[in-house]
Amino acid sequence: MQNLHGRDLLTLGDLTPEEVEAVLERAVAQKQARRMAGKPPVPTGKSAALIFMKPSLRTRVSFELACVDLGLHPVVLGPADAFSREETVHDTIKVLERYVDVIVLRTFAQSHIEEVAEHASIPVVNALTDDYHPCQGLADLLTIREHKGGPSGLKLAYVGDGNNMAHTYLLAGALTGMHVSIAGPAGFEPSEAVVATARGLAAQYGTGAKFEVTSDVRAAVAGADVVVTDTWASMGQEAEHAARVAAFAGYSVDAALMSIADPGAIFMHCLPAHRGEEVQNDVIDAGYSVVFDEAENRLHAQRAWLSLVL
Ligand code: CP
Ligand code: NVA
Repeated sequence: MQNLHGRDLLTLGDLTPEEVEAVLERAVAQKQARRMAGKPPVPTGKSAALIFMKPSLRTRVSFELACVDLGLHPVVLGPADAFSREETVHDTIKVLERYVDVIVLRTFAQSHIEEVAEHASIPVVNALTDDYHPCQGLADLLTIREHKGGPSGLKLAYVGDGNNMAHTYLLAGALTGMHVSIAGPAGFEPSEAVVATARGLAAQYGTGAKFEVTSDVRAAVAGADVVVTDTWASMGQEAEHAARVAAFAGYSVDAALMSIADPGAIFMHCLPAHRGEEVQNDVIDAGYSVVFDEAENRLHAQRAWLSLVL
């Protein structure tokens, strides 16, 4: 068993392939146990600060319930509570760690959570930044494994914005040996630094992962085992929504596009979805869509992570 005690999760790149496997194994075991047991959780006397500087449905509910399942007391904080009133990051964290045993943070800049982790003597978990969404990445690897096996050797096509989810799939693919093909319009590619990190991790661990960044959406989706998309305007980009809808014309995942994927392909989306924009109803409501399994698996993946680090 990998020892993850006390570890931060700021990006999936913080993990080795063996550690990813250990988290997924733990998640599978706990998912099964949760279905069968129905026993009340045993309080541990520990607690978690769940800080949301941006809105959330899935992440907030799944982290709160994961804490309750593990006997941790969750304390949910918003932008009026934490990093407010000109209190420094240093002081905020020194206060919080007198109360809680783990900090879960959704924020804007990756540099913000990195600063939090520098000051914190307790584990820090990234619940989404502008650059990464590692908890969604773990849940999605669990979902891919449940539906398609592997994921080593599978082709994952990500269609749309080169955002925090695109970055997360690049790193997830690097650690698990997937072929990750990212398709979007020019100017909306994932960060070259993240692509380079993914290539570096794949080489370091010898996972056999392959990467492509292209504007040719049909080439990316052809033969894919997993087709995934995400919103064209992420949280914080609301003012760009109309311009982005225009820029992403031709990159909506519809049934015609899915028809060139592998016949057994699944469709994924971290949600919230914008039906009629990045995905059409005939795809997200199809039998091959696993979007609500992904949402459920957030709980199992995060509970596994919390139980391993505490
Ligand atoms: N997928 C996801 O993180 O959803 P929320 O933004 O609702 O938490
Ligand atoms: N890329 C999206 C993901 C939401 C879960 C955003 O950052 O808003």
